[in-house]
Amino acid sequence: MKTLNVLFLAAEADPLVKVGGLGDVAGSLPLALRGLPAEAHTNCRVDVRLLLPYHDAVRQKLPSPDFLFSFPVESKTGARTAEVFQSEVNGVPLYLIGGEPIANSPVYSPDSAADGRKYVFFSAAALKLLERLEWKADVVHANDWHTALVVYLLSLRRKASPAAWNPKTIFTMHNLPFMGAGTDAAFDDYGIPPSRYSLVPWWGKKFPLPLAVQTADRVTTVSKTYAQEILTPEFGCGLEKLLQTRHKVVSGIVNGLDMDAWDPSADARIPASFSAETLDQRAANKEALAREFDLDTNPAVPLLVLVSRMDQQKGVDLAVEGLASLADRDWQAILLGTGNPDLEDACRKLESALPKRVRAAIRFDVNLSRRMYAGGDILLMPSRYEPCGLAQMMAMRYGCIPLARATGGLQDTISDISANPESGTGFLFKPAAAEDFAGALTRALDLFKDRQAWQAMQKRGMRQDFSWSKSALEYLRLYQSLGLR
Ligand code: GLC
Repeated sequence: MKTLNVLFLAAEADPLVKVGGLGDVAGSLPLALRGLPAEAHTNCRVDVRLLLPYHDAVRQKLPSPDFLFSFPVESKTGARTAEVFQSEVNGVPLYLIGGEPIANSPVYSPDSAADGRKYVFFSAAALKLLERLEWKADVVHANDWHTALVVYLLSLRRKASPAAWNPKTIFTMHNLPFMGAGTDAAFDDYGIPPSRYSLVPWWGKKFPLPLAVQTADRVTTVSKTYAQEILTPEFGCGLEKLLQTRHKVVSGIVNGLDMDAWDPSADARIPASFSAETLDQRAANKEALAREFDLDTNPAVPLLVLVSRMDQQKGVDLAVEGLASLADRDWQAILLGTGNPDLEDACRKLESALPKRVRAAIRFDVNLSRRMYAGGDILLMPSRYEPCGLAQMMAMRYGCIPLARATGGLQDTISDISANPESGTGFLFKPAAAEDFAGALTRALDLFKDRQAWQAMQKRGMRQDFSWSKSALEYLRLYQSLGLR
């Protein structure tokens, strides 16, 4: 049996370093790929390995990985040393690249030029690492702009020496609007030629993301609907023409959820465990959550929760405005998250306007998010765009019904109850407007009174299979379609 070698690159991977959803995916997908049952590997085995920058945050968790080798990465302002280490995380072989541009800098810096220096250095070093390793990658799988440049550098290498070892490339987009603006100076410093392709917009000729879209053998994003949406001007962020010309190699594979890490029957961080079979025990979580926030405890009043980065993407403003417009209805709400100060303020203002029933928890608190999924009745997720989204899956798993915009991964993972009375798992609305949000919320508040229908919907959500195995298999097939020589 042949072995297919895949190097998976990302800026972050749980449990070593996690800032957002990318960290969840890079933490669980390589693991899921390695864990696929033997039947899945019909004609080959996959050896997936992870490559991360040796961020300070990673250094704290893994202070002494095995040193492999070091080499200089040349630039106009002088050579910088890249140090390569080897380790393992949850059984997945791990390579780390350290060096001056990576040390003493957060994973994502507010200074985009610093991030440019860091990730351009990382990508240039990753190319050299690929060349030096005895283990030869058949497929290089890069994620988001931070590692996108490897794909472009490999394409230049392939052009220059087509007969040499040249791995195939996959580029996955978790967040299209972040393209790597700020990398210009680093491109010049490391002597990386800008794109000359006419369909890469003039402003993006030195952005890693468009260059990977231009040159990758396959481009994927994290849901089927989003893969379609990005071909349109509304979602394409100026790259829709480029993406359209590449539509034959663009596809969507929905993210999975770590079903063991998110299991309400075995979660020590929630007050009362429960399952679809013991749903009545869930009530204790709602009561505890209301008490924690000094809200009246009343099972008949729906408790709405929002767990989100406070970002324009997430449509927090739509939720705040929509909630204010439904002040004459009976509900309570807890809004959790940090980010844009204006949106944080809008949440605080709603709390001051409706002090008996709204709480704004302006912080990042993973454990609280678990208590909110376990105790809340409805999760609000009115995202303007959502490549996949994970919160809606976590919420459903914990019996909290999602109310979301019908976009991207939200549309692919939630079935609207009004359209599908027998199989629905949530509430969807289309236009990104507060009144449409309010319309969906009105439907939800009405249905909440029908206890039987509500519980049936909760159980359907809890029984959904969001596990990684199906999506991991899709990635495996994609690798196989490219990598076997
Ligand atoms: C980004 C996207 C989110 C997706 C996550 C992981 O954070 O905004 O929709 O779920 O990446 O792919």
